[in-house]
Amino acid sequence: MIGSGRSDVHVTITGLGAHVPERVITNDELAQLVDTSDEWIVERTGIRERRIAAETEALSDISLPAAQQALEQAGSDGKDIDLLIVATVTPDMMFPSTAAILADRLGAADAAAYDLSAGCTGFMYGLAQAYGMVAAGLARRALVVGGDVLSRILDWTDRSTVVLFGDGAGAVVIEPSDEAGFLAFELGADGAGGEHLWLPGSGSRRFEEPDGLVKMNGREVFKFATRVLVQSAEAVLDRYGTNVGDVDVYVPHQANVRIIDHATKKLGIPSDRVVINVDRYGNTSSGSIPLALAEAQADGRLRAGSLVLMTGMGAGLTWGSALMRWTQRLEASPAKPATPGQKTRPPGAAAGAGAAA
Ligand code: UT7
Repeated sequence: MIGSGRSDVHVTITGLGAHVPERVITNDELAQLVDTSDEWIVERTGIRERRIAAETEALSDISLPAAQQALEQAGSDGKDIDLLIVATVTPDMMFPSTAAILADRLGAADAAAYDLSAGCTGFMYGLAQAYGMVAAGLARRALVVGGDVLSRILDWTDRSTVVLFGDGAGAVVIEPSDEAGFLAFELGADGAGGEHLWLPGSGSRRFEEPDGLVKMNGREVFKFATRVLVQSAEAVLDRYGTNVGDVDVYVPHQANVRIIDHATKKLGIPSDRVVINVDRYGNTSSGSIPLALAEAQADGRLRAGSLVLMTGMGAGLTWGSALMRWTQRLEASPAKPATPGQKTRPPGAAAGAGAAA
């Protein structure tokens, strides 16, 4: 577990952006592919629909608009960025990194650029790394992207996973500031639980019959999630010497409304301080927290001085929290997280299988 760093340099988010693909897939459409129902999905997960990337779209394509929006809010452009981190488990390809591809497309010609793999917690890890690099003076202005195109690695015949996930990306610009932004981090991993959410056959380990698709033990991940969302939030609040009563905006990983409700109740955070958008996007993995953050900003819920608590958890198994004070510069510049919906056939659905086109 790390996160005890103290720095005299203030570092904050100066720009925020988010993007989701246009294609909307409803629960009813999924019920035409696998043995499930809108009622089951809503009751067990709170998810009503999710966005799915077009066949021609890769992670860098959905990350680019989010990154451009974040840079615009920060009053910067690509050439001002000297560090670019993309947190993801679905890069365009293993190499070159999606960060390097994105840096090129943004005109961040000389930026250090790399991908980071920490499951759905990747964005939290990326924030902490960028904070550390900027606070230490190694980087001047960093762009952290969290995003995934999980639809590419789902088994579209497996009802236990296919209903949960969606595609999306978010991005933030991080730089030194006069005011305190980031206050504390807490990150951890438990590799012993790795087999509960994994992609066997996706790397150098040989497997008997690798199909390259996500495997998940939902009940185990559920237990892990409800435990670490609470523990990590309490640890980061404790580390900064504050308590949950001071939190103005809580942005948990958007995995399942039941997981979020459990953590919220256990922590004692009033429901009107919790950001939830999993009903419209499902679990977008590394994209989840920046997408939710961008919505909270667009809704005017993030005000100068707001104490913001973010906690992620996911494959690894990993978890991570960040505590920050929202800064003045970002209060009144709303992001537009979602593009208009358009219903088309989901991946895996045979033509004429009944999904709305
Ligand atoms: O970023 C982290 C990513 N992963 C997660 O967040 C997953 C965390 N886990 C969960 O969210 C929940 O465990 C699930 C939503 C995956 C499943 O909900 P649950 O209440 O834990 O259901 P369950 O696994 O205990 O299954 C209950 C029943 C089973 O049928 P039987 O054995 O009781 O006959 C499942 O086969 O529900 C069945 N089931 C479904 N039924 C309809 C599982 N998935 C579905 C489905 N539609 N999509």
